[in-house]
Amino acid sequence: MSAHVADPPVPVKPDVIGVGFLYHGVPEFARLYERLVEVGGHIDLVEFLAAHHHADPGHLADIIDSLGGVPSTLHCFEYMIGSVDRPAAATVERLRRMVELSNCRYIGEHVGVMGTRDRYSGTFLQPFGTDEQTEVFIENLKRDRDVAGVPFIIENQAQIYDQVGPRSVCEQVRDIAEGADVGILLSMSNFTVAERFHPMDRERELEAIPLERVWQLHIPLGSGAELAEPDNGRQRREQEWAHATAEQLFKEESFRPVSIVLEVQNAGTIALATPEEIRDGLDWARDLLGSGADR
Ligand SMILES: [Fe+2]
Repeated sequence: MSAHVADPPVPVKPDVIGVGFLYHGVPEFARLYERLVEVGGHIDLVEFLAAHHHADPGHLADIIDSLGGVPSTLHCFEYMIGSVDRPAAATVERLRRMVELSNCRYIGEHVGVMGTRDRYSGTFLQPFGTDEQTEVFIENLKRDRDVAGVPFIIENQAQIYDQVGPRSVCEQVRDIAEGADVGILLSMSNFTVAERFHPMDRERELEAIPLERVWQLHIPLGSGAELAEPDNGRQRREQEWAHATAEQLFKEESFRPVSIVLEVQNAGTIALATPEEIRDGLDWARDLLGSGADR
C-alpha cells in the first residue's frame, strides 16, 4: 500500500482588499502615482507583472514603499501551470521572494502554456480545452498551490486559436478552478483582446464562470481623449462593454470579488489614462466592490 500524501490546504477567499491599478515597472508609473495622489486618488492594492521584476526582485520592495505599503498581487505566467514540465527551483524561489518583498496576497496566474521548464517561449499558448490538458492544470495546481506561500488564482485567457477539445476557454477555466479548488481572475480585457484573433461568444463564456470563485476583476481604463478619437470607436465600445458588464455582474448575489484592478493602459491604445480619470475610475470600482460587500 502506498502512503497517501495529502493535498495542500485549499485557500480561503480573503475579505475584500480593495481597488488598484496594474503598475508597469517603468518610471512613468511612479510619476503617474504621484500625480494620482495630488488629485486626491488613492489605491488599496497594486498589481505587478512579475516578468518586469525578474532581474531585480528587490526593487519591488522600494515600489511598495513608494506606494505607501499597500498589499499587492503578482500577475504571472512564470509558474506555467499548463506545462507538464514544472518550473526550475530557481523560478519557484524567485517567485517566493517576490511574494515576500511585495506584500503579495495572491498570485494571478495565466491559464496558458508558456514554454518548458528551462525556456519561456515568449508567448501565450491558449489552452485548447482538451481533457488531458485540463487534467495537467488541475494536478499542477493541486500539488503546488501553496508553493509560493500565497494562493494562486487563475485568469481566463484570450482566445487566439481554435478550440480543439470539448471546452471553450471559460469552460476550461471553470473545470480547472473547480477541479483544483482555486479562485478566478476574471479578465474583461481578454475578451477584447480575443476580438482581434478569434471572437468569443461573451455571454456563453461569462455564463460558464462560477461567479462565487471570482477573486479579482481586470477592467480596462484607457485615456478618454484617445478613446474619443474617431479611429478608436471599437476600443471605446469595448471599454463601455467592460464597465457595463462589471456593473451587471455585481448585481449577482454570488459575485463577491475581493479586488478590482484597472488596466490604465488600455489594450490596443497607447496613452495612459489621466490621474483624474484613474481617481474617478478607482472610486467607481470601490463603489462596485462595496455594493458586493454590503450584501
Ligand atoms: Fe493577464
